[in-house]
Amino acid sequence: MSIAEQGVAIAEAPSDDIVLDVRDLQTYFFLRRGIVKAVDGVSFALRRGEVLGLVGESGCGKSLTALSIMRLLPKGSARTIHGEVLLNGEDILEKTPNEMREIRGRKISMILQDPQTSLNPVFTIGEQLREAIFRRTRGRTREVMREAVAALRRVDIAAPEQRLGQFPHQMSGGMKQRVVGAISISGRPEVLIADEPTTALDVTIQLQYLKLLKRLQEETRMAILFITHDFGVVARMCDRVAVMYAGRIVECGPVDQVFDNPSHPYTQALIASVPKMTGSTERLYTIEGQPPSLMDLPVGCRFAPRCPYADQRCLAAYPPSFTVGAEHTADCWRMTAA
Ligand SMILES: Nc1ncnc2c1ncn2[C@@H]1O[C@H](COP(=O)(O)OP(=O)(O)OP(=O)(O)O)[C@@H](O)[C@H]1O
Ligand SMILES: [Mg+2]
Repeated sequence: MSIAEQGVAIAEAPSDDIVLDVRDLQTYFFLRRGIVKAVDGVSFALRRGEVLGLVGESGCGKSLTALSIMRLLPKGSARTIHGEVLLNGEDILEKTPNEMREIRGRKISMILQDPQTSLNPVFTIGEQLREAIFRRTRGRTREVMREAVAALRRVDIAAPEQRLGQFPHQMSGGMKQRVVGAISISGRPEVLIADEPTTALDVTIQLQYLKLLKRLQEETRMAILFITHDFGVVARMCDRVAVMYAGRIVECGPVDQVFDNPSHPYTQALIASVPKMTGSTERLYTIEGQPPSLMDLPVGCRFAPRCPYADQRCLAAYPPSFTVGAEHTADCWRMTAA
């Protein structure tokens, strides 16, 4: 029986215990046409047992931030050129590829944006799950089998023994995503990065999946970096939220505070564009203008060209992170007097 099923209250406030500390991360694409600054100075910390949302428009660098942390950048022109990713105080950017293979899955794991790419179509669910479990336990076949069945049961898949023999195409989208979730947490990671884990699912299945993730998070106390477009999902899932714009985090704080007192004009626009309906899944396309090209970024605030409050100062220099409230910061010159 899980802890949640026993009715024990487990959702205590997150401790100050930082498990993942990302400092000034920069990941660029070096192309013949120029340099694409996809992640350009991203810093945040994640505490044990905490869910931190990472939100922002398409193309702002959310997935690249996640892939940089996992050291799973697309092969070719992308390189992390600066920063630290401290996992329990150790910089995983310094680890060898072999050491990284040991860390991935066991200490830090990721649910990719597209579940189709996470499952291999030519292997059964059981084979893929068993491989993930075997890497951790190196256990005997029977134990691995037992764990595989338990892993599927944990993500609410009925008749797991039969499902183990099936191929991904024999399952619905929602079921596949739950299998991906089961595989991602089978190594009992301390940190899970979930990159838009529900975009491919229809609305009712999304909600079920979010509830499931939340329950697993509360049971295991793993920390989650939850990437999404959707502020409704942030409200439902997250303790804190970081808002990303054109390769940088422009505002970060506890979810309630950011909702009640959004301080960066970009956050204000994002929240204003959320339809006033809980459980909304609409994408946030209603802010006028376009984000800047990541190949040709303005020297000043990156939001200035779209910002109704921008003045000379905003065009001249990128603002520092100002403190807005407890654990609440915003990179906006208007906060100078705050
Ligand atoms: N292979 C590539 N070559 C050049 N630029 C790339 C490449 N892949 C991604 N980029 C650029 O990196 C930026 C960040 O991409 P990323 O996938 O992190 O965005 P995202 O915030 O996850 O967007 P979405 O919400 O659509 O998933 C994008 O603006 C994109 O143009
Ligand atoms: Mg993405």
